[in-house]
Amino acid sequence: MRWFNNVVAHTLPLVPKSIVGKVSSRYIAGAALDEALAKVKTLNAGGLVATLDVLGELVNTEAEARRAGEEYREVLRAIHAAGVDSNVSVKLTQLGLKVDKELCLEVVGSVVEEAVTLGNFVRIDMEDSTCTDDTLEIHNRLHERHPDSVGCVIQAYLKRSLDDVRDLVSRKANVRLCKGIYVEPRAIAYKKHDEINENFKRLLRELLEGGSYVGIATHDEELVEAAYGLIDELGLTPDRYEFQMLLGVTEALRGRILERGHRLRVYVPYGSDWYAYSMRRLKENPAIVGHIVKAIFNGK
Ligand code: FDA
Repeated sequence: MRWFNNVVAHTLPLVPKSIVGKVSSRYIAGAALDEALAKVKTLNAGGLVATLDVLGELVNTEAEARRAGEEYREVLRAIHAAGVDSNVSVKLTQLGLKVDKELCLEVVGSVVEEAVTLGNFVRIDMEDSTCTDDTLEIHNRLHERHPDSVGCVIQAYLKRSLDDVRDLVSRKANVRLCKGIYVEPRAIAYKKHDEINENFKRLLRELLEGGSYVGIATHDEELVEAAYGLIDELGLTPDRYEFQMLLGVTEALRGRILERGHRLRVYVPYGSDWYAYSMRRLKENPAIVGHIVKAIFNGK
């Protein structure tokens, strides 16, 4: 089936936009902010909290970076006005990282300041390894100014992550821990599932024992079980961690985590760039292509 999925992935541009839209609607809240807020309201009603991500591409100009920053400030104001429980997740390349690091610091800093004013929080997503140093540096500079309002992400597949985690623990940073989604060179990244999972568990222990607040971002049952074990062993209260999952993924597991009384945050992407985002995700993860094929044949 894998070869078939790969063949289909390469012919994806031929798939009608309406079909990509139908399949993606499970993973994306819509094109507009009000659709995303409605989704967050529904999640909140079901006992879940959220983080909103405005879909967007890497920007190449200062004007685009500033526009994206203003959009995120507007999202924070809209979350506040709607009275829903959600923070925001930002990608620094969307806020000018590849244009100029100091510009990016200024733009993401303005988003964090809006969050401070509104009593909210900004999570800085982690992108590919060309961004790791700059992303951590910008996070650390903002965290020194606003320790309760900004956090970062660590990827368990990177071999450097234990050192990064030790530094973040010393800062009492708020860290989302995930496996990592980009294709990285073997020299710097673990490739095998078991190696990545072992490193995830090691990093999770280091973060929780060190006193950092952790967003445990995974749909992998083995890691969720390991997290339960650590939470019990360390006697952690729910104000020390939360589980995090992507919209539309492993909802049954989501329900089980919630039933055990853990806090669970859902990552809710939305925005007018949904088509480009979906095509990228579909190409990266040919397994999802199976859903496309089913949708084509079932007409759903
Ligand atoms: P794994 O990939 O082993 O998946 C476990 C199971 O979950 C699979 O068998 C499948 O059933 C299901 N599953 C997982 N992903 C799915 C999908 N897309 N569609 C359908 N089923 C799926 N990465 C990064 O590099 N930087 C970041 O900032 C973030 N941020 C982030 C936030 C949140 C809230 C989450 C949950 C994830 C991220 N990630 C990320 C992505 C992360 O690094 C990782 O690629 C995915 O979560 C998949 O890894 P799992 O731990 O879920 O395990």
